[in-house]
Amino acid sequence: MYPIKRNRRLRTNEAIRSLVRETIISPNDFLVPIFVVEGKGVKEEIPSMPNYFRLSLDMLEKEVKELWTLGLKSVLLFVKIDDKLKDNKGTEALNPKGLMQRAIKTVKNTCPDMLVMTDVALDPFSSYGHDGIVENGLILNDESSEVLAEMALSHAQAGADFVAPSDMMDGRILEMRELLEDEGFINTGIMAYSAKYASAFYGPFRDALDSAPVNVVDVPKDKKTYQMDYANRFEALRETEMDIEEGADIVMVKPGLCYLDIVRDLKNEVDVPIAVYQVSGEYAMLKAASERGWLNHDAVMMEQVTAIKRAGADIIASYFAKDVVKLIS
Ligand code: PBG
Repeated sequence: MYPIKRNRRLRTNEAIRSLVRETIISPNDFLVPIFVVEGKGVKEEIPSMPNYFRLSLDMLEKEVKELWTLGLKSVLLFVKIDDKLKDNKGTEALNPKGLMQRAIKTVKNTCPDMLVMTDVALDPFSSYGHDGIVENGLILNDESSEVLAEMALSHAQAGADFVAPSDMMDGRILEMRELLEDEGFINTGIMAYSAKYASAFYGPFRDALDSAPVNVVDVPKDKKTYQMDYANRFEALRETEMDIEEGADIVMVKPGLCYLDIVRDLKNEVDVPIAVYQVSGEYAMLKAASERGWLNHDAVMMEQVTAIKRAGADIIASYFAKDVVKLIS
């Protein structure tokens, strides 16, 4: 008696394995998150994100040139601003000479073909560390959406190709799309963080931008009234369909690895590109374990990004982008 089929024949050696491999990672898969700060010559390592840095605008120029030579052609910009500039309405976010607006111009001047996406959310600008305006212990939805739309317009005016609202207010995509159309920015795209879960994996990111919710009375301590409950699956489809109806060009699932079931659900249902954000906590976990010699960094990193793509990601936003590309080139 022999097995009727021998599946192992297709695994005999690397040549046959590579011939039948379904998922191939390339530089085209990646969107590179970048943290920008004021100053000159600043390249500060983020303590909870080893080998990841906050960059001043001059260092951003260098970084962008390096990314381009590596074949990485898209960046996602975040800014860390001084506490003195923060208020409840995130007023500084609309400053035409603000750090984000200057960062967009810096990238475009350095490397005109680099795709520039920008984070649209109030938290880095909010004195309370929330993605919307806080009033009487609540996060205001519609008022926040209006500010977010203004913020998106300001980024478009500075030259952003795509705006990426990461706030999870209801109706903000429509608000943004209409304002962009009215102002003539018909080709500015929207990548909506559609299925964004209230996750503890964002911890290191909040360290990077100093953007965690503050511990003050009448300010919610977490983001659970707007980001999704991680116990829920079907809600992700509702959120995503709504964003697409409102005009999202790309939708996102976030975080990555714990949410690949959601990625596959969406891939089977929607026909716009899906981005997956492999977030700061996922990065920190692998860095920490590999520093201790408990995991093989490069092997686990490749397994993770390949799994994200296999699940259905068309775009991977990842702090590992450079590491991956250097490894595979
Ligand atoms: C906030 C925002 C967060 C991230 C991207 N945009 C954090 C949060 O929602 O608190 C997290 C990214 C990461 O952890 O890498 N608008």
